[in-house]
Amino acid sequence: MCLAEKLFQSSFPEMNQETVQLENSSMAVEKLTAFSDGAGRFLRYADGFQNKENHSFSMPVRQKIEHTGRVCHFACFLGKTAGLFSPLERRLFLLSALFHDISRFEQYMLYGTFRDDLSFDHGDRSAEIMQKGLFLQETAPEYLKILMEAVRVHNKISIPEYFPEEALTAARMLRDADKLAVLEEALAFFEHPDKNVKLDVPDPDTFTQSIAERVLHSEKIHNAELQCVNDFKINLFAWAGDLNCGTSCRYLFKRRYYERLRKLMPDSSLLDELLDQTLAELQRKSLMGPGLF
Ligand SMILES: [Fe+2]
Repeated sequence: MCLAEKLFQSSFPEMNQETVQLENSSMAVEKLTAFSDGAGRFLRYADGFQNKENHSFSMPVRQKIEHTGRVCHFACFLGKTAGLFSPLERRLFLLSALFHDISRFEQYMLYGTFRDDLSFDHGDRSAEIMQKGLFLQETAPEYLKILMEAVRVHNKISIPEYFPEEALTAARMLRDADKLAVLEEALAFFEHPDKNVKLDVPDPDTFTQSIAERVLHSEKIHNAELQCVNDFKINLFAWAGDLNCGTSCRYLFKRRYYERLRKLMPDSSLLDELLDQTLAELQRKSLMGPGLF
């Protein structure tokens, strides 16, 4: 087992079990690259970003391999939602999760950052690498197009109005799976900070009032506008309003996700109001059923 595979499986333990179930599930998935083939190609590609001298990954590369595994885990979790999705749709969610961040390795190698505003748009570039790198060569063109559209749009502030109808379900599920993974990773980091991880923004015990007010009014905030770590935490509250699936809302609500995040932020009645509003929205959406809204 290569090093990338060990990291990947640590955050996606159900990998083999899921693969077998999907392979046998339906003839309809015939023209879609098998998840195990795609995963093997992804992991070999990621392995190429090892430090050649000590045969290990730098912390940022390691985090992206583990993040990809975690997004696959959530794609499985959401794909199982009350049996609402077909084997074909579940395979599409999983493959889009597998390749959604494949450009992150190149991005860090070339620019030393994961900030798109200082390098390139990683959704667009991941779709390009996925296609040109022939990672999905057995996949029929109509499915490849869905995968590319879902990957391309996964990091955009919202799904554009004129988006191909046939790719909408995969795109919305991928955006939820990615958000759940990032939310989980962020909370784990804030609750147990790792001194070896360098943050891109300063970490004072304050926040930007205007960012909190805009999130409270359901405005979308670009990452480049966030000035400190507390602004980043505030923006995670905005994500609750952008979730597409009842299961995602219920998952965060039951884990008391936002209550835990709020405890790690400064005293402020504005932030208390933001928490109350977010919890009310999660609870309301949780009651709308498990599938897509
Ligand atoms: Fe991403």
